[in-house]
Amino acid sequence: MLIARRIRELSVYCDIVPFNKVPAIDGDVKGIILSGSPASVTAPDAPMPNLAGVPKELPVLGICYGAQWLAWSRGGKVYSSDTREYGRAVLTVKDAADPLLKGIPAESRVWMSHGDTINSLPEGYKVIASTESVENAAFRIEGSDVWGIQFHAEVHHSEFGKQILANFVLDICGCAGDWTPDSFIESTVKSIREQVGCEKVVLGLSGGVDSSVAALLLHRAIGPQLHCIFVDSGLLRKDEFTSVLASYQGMGLNVKGVDAGERFLADLRGVTDPEQKRKIIGRDFVEVFNAEAEKIQDVRWLAQGTIYPDVIESSAVPGASATIKSHHNVGGLPKDMKLKIVEPLRLLFKDEVRRVGKALGLVPEILGRHPFPGPGLGIRVLGEVTPEKVAILQEADKIYIDSLKRESLYDRIWQAGSILLPIKSVGVMGDERTYEYTIALRAVSSVDGMTADWVRLPYDFLAEISDSIIRRVKGVNRVVYDICSKPPATIEWE
Ligand code: XMP
Repeated sequence: MLIARRIRELSVYCDIVPFNKVPAIDGDVKGIILSGSPASVTAPDAPMPNLAGVPKELPVLGICYGAQWLAWSRGGKVYSSDTREYGRAVLTVKDAADPLLKGIPAESRVWMSHGDTINSLPEGYKVIASTESVENAAFRIEGSDVWGIQFHAEVHHSEFGKQILANFVLDICGCAGDWTPDSFIESTVKSIREQVGCEKVVLGLSGGVDSSVAALLLHRAIGPQLHCIFVDSGLLRKDEFTSVLASYQGMGLNVKGVDAGERFLADLRGVTDPEQKRKIIGRDFVEVFNAEAEKIQDVRWLAQGTIYPDVIESSAVPGASATIKSHHNVGGLPKDMKLKIVEPLRLLFKDEVRRVGKALGLVPEILGRHPFPGPGLGIRVLGEVTPEKVAILQEADKIYIDSLKRESLYDRIWQAGSILLPIKSVGVMGDERTYEYTIALRAVSSVDGMTADWVRLPYDFLAEISDSIIRRVKGVNRVVYDICSKPPATIEWE
């Protein structure tokens, strides 16, 4: 994925396909990159790319495992090296005239991460760069447009990695570099019109970036044929339903707000298990959405804000990945509606979704919004969710988030939120003993939510928030700050 993102940053479109499902290559494909892998080419179950459908003249770049495979599959020797090389190394250029190394200084820093190493190259392979411990760090198959590099050009620590990738995709493959938000919008609007024709589309808005950008794209393509539904589960942040609904209406979207808070809260009564809570919220969401969508006459399409990482994950080579929380994407497809699916963002990475949103004029309040879990405050009120607890959490959270924005900290944080703990503790206010709830504050830095670190918020800021919450929110007498990274903790507490 990182390689693909780097290529996209060069304004070149690329697709990720599993090694064993390489499609027949058509005229639009300008080159192939074979990615890295934790496997060893010599292992019995090593992934063996099948390039039978790839025309011989198409440029190929193997990176790390990809390079090892290129060498090994044609008779080169690949061994588990005694000196597993991890981390930085100095790359020395051996053939400055090689087009892959154009603009790369004689010596530069690269990032290595491999257990195996290519000890000998097959006949006709030419070394074009080496490091101190890896002689065959980069090679070209003479007389063809096939290269291999053992280092990771895609990571930032490889000083000229991006230049190497640019040399490959722009110069060697001859890609135009014209994949931009504007070109994406233009081609997607055209394809939505072709796909949907004059039929009606329904879309669930969540207030998040993905569904909002999907809505704006569809709106540009088909205008009033798009019907949006925004469900208030009663578990949104304070005032969020009204303010986000107003933003959507201000952007000209045909959106219906549905206040279903009472139903969600009634169904959550007495439930304490987080997974159970998620299931109830998910089910209620589908039912409320379904009932609203059925009121739209002759609706034929369901739009979804699926993005590229979701597509890759669902088509990936089978592999075990344990369910830690049964999240993402509360709801899912209302199965009995028999709607056709339109997914205008399925080619985009998250950062590209933001850029497209910006180009479409998405308001900054939604564009820069932190991720927010589908079950909302339902999983931030730990244990049983009651209207009173939700109200307490909403008040405390508003103080926290508003202060982050006021102090210009909000945009430097990946995700922040407050949690209402299911315990009471003793305090003293005025001359009175209190026995009230505790609020935990969380703020994390992250790239994709898979790993995260807690943000070192200034002590003075934390002191001020703690003071404000305890003074202003009835029912809270203690505030704590979560100082755990993920792993071993998760971002949400439930
Ligand atoms: P965790 O808590 O697993 O969260 O570290 C990673 C990211 O996912 C969000 N999250 C959810 N999103 N439904 C969602 O749509 C869920 O049930 C859910 N649980 C966690 C979380 O807010 C963070 O951004």
